[in-house]
Amino acid sequence: MASVAVEHSLIHEIMSWKKERNAVILAHNYELPEIQDIADVLGDSLVLARAAAKTDAKVIVFCGVHFMAETAAILNPEKTVLLPDINAGCSLADSITVEQLRAWKSEHKHAVVVSYVNTTAEVKAESDYCCTSSNAVKVVKSIPEDQEILFLPDMFLGSYVKRITGRENIHIWMGECHVHAGIVPADVEGVLKEHPEAELLIHPECGCSTSSMYLLSEGLLPKDRTHVLSTGGMLQHAQQSISKKFIVATETGIIHQMEKINPDKKFLAANRAAICPFMKMITLPKVLQALKDNTHIITVPTEIRNRAKIPIDRMVAIG
Ligand code: 13P
Ligand code: SF4
Repeated sequence: MASVAVEHSLIHEIMSWKKERNAVILAHNYELPEIQDIADVLGDSLVLARAAAKTDAKVIVFCGVHFMAETAAILNPEKTVLLPDINAGCSLADSITVEQLRAWKSEHKHAVVVSYVNTTAEVKAESDYCCTSSNAVKVVKSIPEDQEILFLPDMFLGSYVKRITGRENIHIWMGECHVHAGIVPADVEGVLKEHPEAELLIHPECGCSTSSMYLLSEGLLPKDRTHVLSTGGMLQHAQQSISKKFIVATETGIIHQMEKINPDKKFLAANRAAICPFMKMITLPKVLQALKDNTHIITVPTEIRNRAKIPIDRMVAIG
């Protein structure tokens, strides 16, 4: 990590280049603390997509991963969207290709496709709806009950949505995020045993989320203190709750913001190794370089953009 003086001067330079370029910095809740601290908008995928859609800035510096920057470029094609590290990908988005989706669709000709936002623009272009972890249940509930659905690519989020909506006509793609899949029931149970009074905040992508739903229904987890939430939902809940201790089952980067907003509360990672290497690729020097050198411009071919925009617009509209 850079020394405090170096960090200060980097931030100073970033701020003056940001002004010069009429740029806005959007950052995801999993970014490094120093990136979170310079963001104009910090949030979950849905908040950032909405911010990208309505910004007046000329340049969007997207401190997140590739599919998020692509979504921003689809929503706001006349802006320059920059991803400071072009290698910031997503293992979940990589778990389904457009060819695989086309083959799956051909096996279920009457189904509609609901894609999690963690997908490539090509996959979105073959989808009917997009969703994020914060509105997946609402998106599925907005679809007529007798309509067959293909849900992709996250199997844990898919199982969670299936259980909550009680729908049997949802087929789920067996993809996963390697970071969240690594948070297993034993992690949560271990921390909960040590801190039985804590509230449990679980991201629906986690490997523990499906079993948590089962444990909840069996009364083996505290119903009033277990919450399955998006990263934005977790931050909001931690702030509003009267509890003083929380077990956080998601990527650990979010704890920086939780502690910042709630200095009197304690946040414990369910699994301290749950670190997304892609989110951590975005650093202050790379943000500065992005602003100076216009790197790396993210664009989506018009034909794909036009088709991908339809499911993304549906996602942004459903709260
Ligand atoms: P959120 O939409 O909850 O922020 O999740 C995004 C993501 O990439 C989860 O890994
Ligand atoms: Fe993708 Fe997982 Fe990283 Fe989120 S945490 S960006 S789903 S690899």
